[in-house]
Amino acid sequence: MDRLKSLDPPHKGLRNALGKLALLAGKTDYTSLSSVTLLKELANEVFHLLKDHTATENKFILAPLEQRNPGFTKNYYSDHEAIDQLEQNLLDRFLSLDGKQTNDEGHQLYLDFCNFQSHYLEHINEEDSILELEMQKHFTDEELMQHQIEIMQEMSFDTLLLWFKYIVPSRRPDENAQVLTGFKSVAPESAYNTVLNTIKEEVRESEMQAILSLVK
Ligand SMILES: [Fe+2]
Ligand SMILES: [Fe+2]
Repeated sequence: MDRLKSLDPPHKGLRNALGKLALLAGKTDYTSLSSVTLLKELANEVFHLLKDHTATENKFILAPLEQRNPGFTKNYYSDHEAIDQLEQNLLDRFLSLDGKQTNDEGHQLYLDFCNFQSHYLEHINEEDSILELEMQKHFTDEELMQHQIEIMQEMSFDTLLLWFKYIVPSRRPDENAQVLTGFKSVAPESAYNTVLNTIKEEVRESEMQAILSLVK
């Protein structure tokens, strides 16, 4: 039986989001206000998700795991502090763009962001291959599902929509259906429908139908 993977949805969504930002940062005209405005909008979304993920992981993954396996999570907390600082620094630089920079200055920001992206991908790769297994060792799928529901209940609706936007195109229909089934069981119908409308913008019609056919 396949195990439930708590880290898989946010990490796949973040890989998608980081890739999109790297792509756009690489082709932005840093001397154009309209071009950097688009970049800043995407950077705001991506860094919001990155920040949200670290806070969520600290509270709903590391904290419960620390109770069952004391000492295991220490390095993850310190990595998160360092990552938070790198992110804030890069976000400040993205937000300071006003179309008056040179393209060489923009290129340096692009390279620094790509360097961060490489570092961050290593971080989540380690979490996927070590932390995820540790969660599965210490928690049942029912408990992991409960964490997922608590995360969705605590999150603001706007943030949740943003997560769906990046996560859904990155996962299989059955995986998306599993999360949507959980969300549907706790959310008002109007919220569920708003989520579906957001998803429709991001995936092909056939993919959407495949997801919906599996939601219980
Ligand atoms: Fe992390
Ligand atoms: Fe993570």
